[in-house]
Amino acid sequence: MARITASVYTSHVPAIGAALDLGKSGEPYWQPLFAGYEPSKAWMKENTPDVIFLVYNDHANAFSLDLIPTFAIGTAASYQPADEGWGPRPVPAVEGHPALAAHIAQSVIQQDFDLTVVNAIDVDHGLTVPLSLMFGQPEAWPCKVIPFAVNVVQYPVPSGARCFALGQAIRRAVESFEEPLKVQIWGTGGMSHQLQGARAGLINADWDNAFLDRIIADPVGLSQVPHIEYVREAGSEGIELVMWLIARGAMSDIAGGPPPKVLHRFFHVPASNTAVGHLILENG
Ligand code: DHB
Ligand code: FE
Repeated sequence: MARITASVYTSHVPAIGAALDLGKSGEPYWQPLFAGYEPSKAWMKENTPDVIFLVYNDHANAFSLDLIPTFAIGTAASYQPADEGWGPRPVPAVEGHPALAAHIAQSVIQQDFDLTVVNAIDVDHGLTVPLSLMFGQPEAWPCKVIPFAVNVVQYPVPSGARCFALGQAIRRAVESFEEPLKVQIWGTGGMSHQLQGARAGLINADWDNAFLDRIIADPVGLSQVPHIEYVREAGSEGIELVMWLIARGAMSDIAGGPPPKVLHRFFHVPASNTAVGHLILENG
């Protein structure tokens, strides 16, 4: 059977992608940020999964106010990087896993989560920047990716509790797929940031670090935090962090297994307007 080996959590700031694409990652502003991902890249080389189930949000690039799916699963064979207004990022196309994605859609919908099935979509920085951070700049991404888009852009957005329960349903779905695939689940976006309005530029490092503590050791309690606290404490775009609870809900300790091992924890302020957080948890 397929199994979830680890969960990876990371911010997705578009300027990080631009820094890599424009060859600026060694500059003093960026060097400490990329240094924080070096252990992760080394670990990924040794622990490349067959498939990444990549929970991310689209930023009105593939979707618009015309169509706002709360949860959307990509079932395509491949995905192109989106043109976000200045041309697509010069990164490889993303190869999907239609058979596993269709199985997860079937299982999760039958577990009463209403997923939107997406057979064609371009993927924006929310998906490609995490891949760049974990894999660098390869000719081709070294594994398949199932994009899973969450609406955290246009209200109403899903609660942390619902995201956490959805993660548990995704774990059951993955573990009932017959091929013995190694699957990682990634939760992306965040941490604190606000891009507009009177509080633009808001960063709350204390709240972010408490979030990191709790997603490791108190995920059930953390899942009860209401969305208004994210917005008040972590800024209007801090709500992206509910996506991390989908990945955390899919870890085996939530279903009675041993606690995950914390392989890496990193926090860095700022990258553009955002507090960058990163964790790797391995199933025990
Ligand atoms: C920034 C952060 C984001 O999460 C995003 O989607 C766009 C911009 C930023 O900090 O610049
Ligand atoms: Fe974002």
